[in-house]
Amino acid sequence: MNAAIRAVVLAAHHHNIEVVGFYHGYNGLICAEYIKQANVLTLADVNSVIHRGGTLLKSARCTLMHEDKGLLLAANTLSKHRIDALVVIGGDGSFKGLIALQQYWQGQVIGIPGTIDNDLDGTDYTIGFATAVNTGIESIDKIRDTADAFERIFIVELMGRHSGHITFNVGIACAAEQVLSFENFSIDDQQSQLIQLANEIKTAQKNRHGSYIIVIAENLWPGGAFELAKQLNEQADIECTACLLGHIQRGGSPVAKDRILATKMGVAAVQALVSAKTNVMIAEKNNTMCFVVLEESVKHHKLVSRQLIDAQQNILALTAQTQC
Ligand code: F6P
Repeated sequence: MNAAIRAVVLAAHHHNIEVVGFYHGYNGLICAEYIKQANVLTLADVNSVIHRGGTLLKSARCTLMHEDKGLLLAANTLSKHRIDALVVIGGDGSFKGLIALQQYWQGQVIGIPGTIDNDLDGTDYTIGFATAVNTGIESIDKIRDTADAFERIFIVELMGRHSGHITFNVGIACAAEQVLSFENFSIDDQQSQLIQLANEIKTAQKNRHGSYIIVIAENLWPGGAFELAKQLNEQADIECTACLLGHIQRGGSPVAKDRILATKMGVAAVQALVSAKTNVMIAEKNNTMCFVVLEESVKHHKLVSRQLIDAQQNILALTAQTQC
């Protein structure tokens, strides 16, 4: 996010546009205490921030933006500060707020996709996703050392809210023995899924000794990785260790891919404003910057590509064959 803020400030400066930073997400437009903190962002403010995780403008969830009262307060602040355009960096919740805000405020609005979940429709990648995937890979590589040494089974839970982009990418890159996500696993019949999973683990253990890593998307299995580990233990006598990566995935110095994507998107956001665009999300498709109508970006969650799901399944099948 810092890389995107920096790019917006630098590009705006180039066009003689003043940038006001509102702090703590939409709270910066709604709550008096945060509105006071709003200030003009100078080039010095964005010096030496590109390598930092988090956001210099802070962030927050803001439920008031779901209500007319919050939207009106936000619109009033923008009018009072004589703001012409609002650039919001965020995920689907932020963009839904931006869409709703337009009922009460007629300035230009631009969304920059920033979420580790990578689930916004119309862009190949969102800012933060690559870093989160890298963090997941680094963490599981470390877990693999213990798993290998002790020939143990681990269940690692990854973030993504209701999307499996992180889980699939990390799972494939870590050669996880199982990838359990919304796209390839249904828990409609939890009991039979548990039995099937237990059988697969037992077959793999019979064929070879060694580590066994299951990556699982958060919100997939009721109770998460710890509950799944408990059930495998109690119902199938399989001992496994659960590990929740959690917010580790949301922080840290951004990887090159994210810094570059954020920079391109920040510049594109200012170019969009200069060319009078509004109500669009900045996107990158096939290496080309483009614009997606905000409503389109949040209509559906972007799905994990079929290619990736098939690749993971084919690799698993091949691995199983070579072990028999
Ligand atoms: O949307 C980003 C995300 O990190 C999700 O992957 C996760 O489910 C959620 O936010 C966690 O939110 P919070 O930090 O508010 O618990």
